[in-house]
Amino acid sequence: MSKSIINLQSVENQQLLTITPPNTGLSLQGTLEIPGDKSISHRALMLGAIAEGETIIEGLLLGEDPRSTAECFRAMGAEISPLNSQKVTVQGIGLGQLQEPSDVLNAGNSGTTMRLMLGLLASHPDRLFCVTGDASLRSRPMSRVIKPLQAMGAQIWGRKHNSLAPLAIQGQTLKPIHYHSPIASAQVKSCILLAGLMTDGQTTVTEPALSRDHSERMLQAFGATLEIESKTNSVTITGHPKLTGQKVIVPGDISSAAFWLVAASIVQGSELLIENVGINRTRTGILEALKMMEADITLENERVITGEPVADLRVKSSPLKACTIEGEIIPRLIDEIPILAVAAIFAQGKTIIKDAAELRVKESDRLAVIASQLSKMGAKISELPDGLEITGGTPLNGADVDSCSDHRIAMSLAIAALRAKGKTIISGAEAAAISYPEFVGTLEHLLFS
Ligand code: S3P
Repeated sequence: MSKSIINLQSVENQQLLTITPPNTGLSLQGTLEIPGDKSISHRALMLGAIAEGETIIEGLLLGEDPRSTAECFRAMGAEISPLNSQKVTVQGIGLGQLQEPSDVLNAGNSGTTMRLMLGLLASHPDRLFCVTGDASLRSRPMSRVIKPLQAMGAQIWGRKHNSLAPLAIQGQTLKPIHYHSPIASAQVKSCILLAGLMTDGQTTVTEPALSRDHSERMLQAFGATLEIESKTNSVTITGHPKLTGQKVIVPGDISSAAFWLVAASIVQGSELLIENVGINRTRTGILEALKMMEADITLENERVITGEPVADLRVKSSPLKACTIEGEIIPRLIDEIPILAVAAIFAQGKTIIKDAAELRVKESDRLAVIASQLSKMGAKISELPDGLEITGGTPLNGADVDSCSDHRIAMSLAIAALRAKGKTIISGAEAAAISYPEFVGTLEHLLFS
């Protein structure tokens, strides 16, 4: 363990993370567990709240985003135990029973909270809901869920012609539709399926490529009837199911594991065993991409835990090669592109990432932000309209960089800093707490020099 490499300082409402790697001899070693999957954590809280009876969630992510979800559903009548232990209980209030909250619902920084919740709110007749979020979330497009909800009969008002939060929702009895989504988005798909829970009939969502399917799995586990047509990437839900509280064990988040997979790959002499990682195939694009780059990663102890496949991942450092990442794999690694860009800086040759324009409307414009911040460190990286072009093999120098309040950018820059010459200062490092509150502590613990 090497504390002098890492320094975390609070300065005027933000954290500065300073990383000063030694010139030689640094490696990452050890066995670790990562925090619970963010997507599964949100869904377990939401379905627990609208089911009948008690839901027990083990391994819930205790990050800022699930806290926003818990706060919103508490305000609508669900009893959720404090998010201070990895075992959280939810006393469900039953389908259609969300109460009109006495104040604005605040989804914080969380797109998943806002978009999934909108499907539920829009389908609760005779109740008015107001929803907002932080500055980042208030600039993210909501029309992608508002338009299909309006086609179901929803009444929603928002800024910029009903496309931006804050939003007001007058709940209605909705009608089922077949929605052909123009984008592969689990948030859009899940929003429509949740709205479909309260309709008389069958609601179908078809997407152009398969996005993460945690909603489908968990809805079925809670008792909903779903038909899945994998050839056409279509899911159909039947309205008015009986949802019953369940025990959910949340696996570790592969999106958080990705930082260690890349860190151990690029820092010579490293070896890590990352235990209990979710390996649902709608999320394992990162493993496929790193394999194309010739990373040394093996899966051990594969098993299924409450309907989700899980494994331990062993990663050893190895020379990486450039590759092209495009097409149907993109939705399966959408959140890992910033850290993949870091891997590409240390890979021999030119890596091209395409078909990833969605990154421009995440917590930040991730294509612009990762390119500008890594460029400050000397990386050869440029933006494409829908991706990135990265020429590997140029050594990095420490620099002053900024997370731009984006959790995945903060952590990606910290991993890049491990291979830079000299000191890197990352401002806005507190953003990591959105999905990985223990990130800096774990980094300190894994570093040997
Ligand atoms: C998520 C879906 C993805 C992902 C986000 C979490 C989810 O967003 O980027 O971090 O839990 O459904 P999109 O559906 O917008 O692709």
